[in-house]
Amino acid sequence: SHRITLGPLVAAIDQGTSSTRFLVFNSKTAELLSHHQVEIKQSFPKEGWVEEDPKEILQSVYECMERTCEKLTQLNIDISNIKAIGVTNQRETTLVWDKETGEPLYNAIGKVVSCHPVWLDLRTQSTVERLINKTPGRNKNHLKHKTGLPISTYFSAVKLRWMMDNVDEVRDAVVSHRAMFGTVDSWLIWCLTGGKSGGVHCTDVTNASRTMLFNIHTLDWDPELCEYDSCLYFAGCRCPGGKKSLHSFCLGDQSAALVGQMCFRDGQAKNTYGTGCFLLRNTGPKPVMSDHGLLTTVAYKLGRDKPACYALEGSVAIAGAVVRWLQDNLGIIESSEELEKLAASVGTSYGCYFVPAFSGLYAPYWEPSARGIICGLTQFTNKRHVAFAALEAVCFQTKEILDAMNQDSGIPLTQLQVDGGMTSNRLLMQLQADILCIPVVKPSMPETTALGAAMAAGAAEGVSVWSLSPEDLSEVTSEKFEPQINPEESEFRFARWKKAVQKSMNWET
Ligand code: G3P
Repeated sequence: SHRITLGPLVAAIDQGTSSTRFLVFNSKTAELLSHHQVEIKQSFPKEGWVEEDPKEILQSVYECMERTCEKLTQLNIDISNIKAIGVTNQRETTLVWDKETGEPLYNAIGKVVSCHPVWLDLRTQSTVERLINKTPGRNKNHLKHKTGLPISTYFSAVKLRWMMDNVDEVRDAVVSHRAMFGTVDSWLIWCLTGGKSGGVHCTDVTNASRTMLFNIHTLDWDPELCEYDSCLYFAGCRCPGGKKSLHSFCLGDQSAALVGQMCFRDGQAKNTYGTGCFLLRNTGPKPVMSDHGLLTTVAYKLGRDKPACYALEGSVAIAGAVVRWLQDNLGIIESSEELEKLAASVGTSYGCYFVPAFSGLYAPYWEPSARGIICGLTQFTNKRHVAFAALEAVCFQTKEILDAMNQDSGIPLTQLQVDGGMTSNRLLMQLQADILCIPVVKPSMPETTALGAAMAAGAAEGVSVWSLSPEDLSEVTSEKFEPQINPEESEFRFARWKKAVQKSMNWET
């Protein structure tokens, strides 16, 4: 049969917390030609613990690639035209594997089950407390001048420390120099480039900047930071570098979304609604330190000779995860689409506030001991109001981040560019505009994370990827949600939310 010639294609492996995807784009038009998605199982073996299976993650990547290629072949599209594949991934999630056997190393329940703590995992809380106690004045921001991060359960170094302290297989492998540490990108690239028969052990600056072992100014591993977490053994991972500048093909998922949203100018920002919610604002070639609880992170470095660009980031731990919780734990919905219908049927939370602090609170509070609460319940409250309050919670959390960002930069954002799975929920997008009192803008191509990774990989391979200037953004905007309530009402609801947040932090005392 006749094959369609489209010119060079670019692709991305998008390994997120809840699923893996492989997506192939036409490099000339950014059109998504085909994709495949596989859900990832998360297990919660104890309260506060979150794990995924590294082998399942790897398998899901192979499956997505194979199925997408089959679909392309069925469409008569020649897969040999795929000229570059980018990797983009959930960040901070920590893996240790054996370089001789290629097996992940983590013995959780007596036999090797190859699990690892996901970024939301809280088991390292005591490690974090111990590290903070070591700092002068018990200051969680003690390392921030180098890392841009507070000392928190979120970042990879404390997860690695925990595994070295608690998992015999990891400790033994460290002693016998067989252990390899990495975030999901490193694990995938090592496996895809040959694994135990010579796989490349590398990462990129965006993922490295989330480990708490990386100096965001020198763009290198920092001996003092490695010493601090007692993770010196692992500082051999190459970054940036590797065969054929592999780091150019790899971007943490939030950086990839920033690139895919074309936020290349100082001051531009995007918010991605995934498992969590991540608002990144480009601050240009200089790292800006936050006074309001935001992270300073490496946004991207698109090429060995290109300068790094930095961002201020507000990370919300629970966004899409609250939908999964309502579905799996409470059973009040059967699908995410049902949540929108349920919430829309009442159009109000009727004074009910839901703070989903399941993994503590991230920005701007960084309070690991916070726990989820639903408050303001009356005899009248029903599951519809709770559903509405869950959606509002995502919007209020974003507002807290946006306020902090506006205070840090002194220049208020005038509109918010959004992407991610939850943006298909039109009620959520309208609520977000109402609560922020600024327009919310959703691009016509919603796959911005994968697009960003494919663009970066294409550029590294010399494939000229479509050009789109920020001025053209209005042309690709599919939907703009304008605020529809008055600012006083919005302020009133936000003030109530803040009270609920205080209760989520103090409910035990
Ligand atoms: O920092 C965690 C983040 O990279 C995970 O993203 O898409 O799973 O919410 P996501």
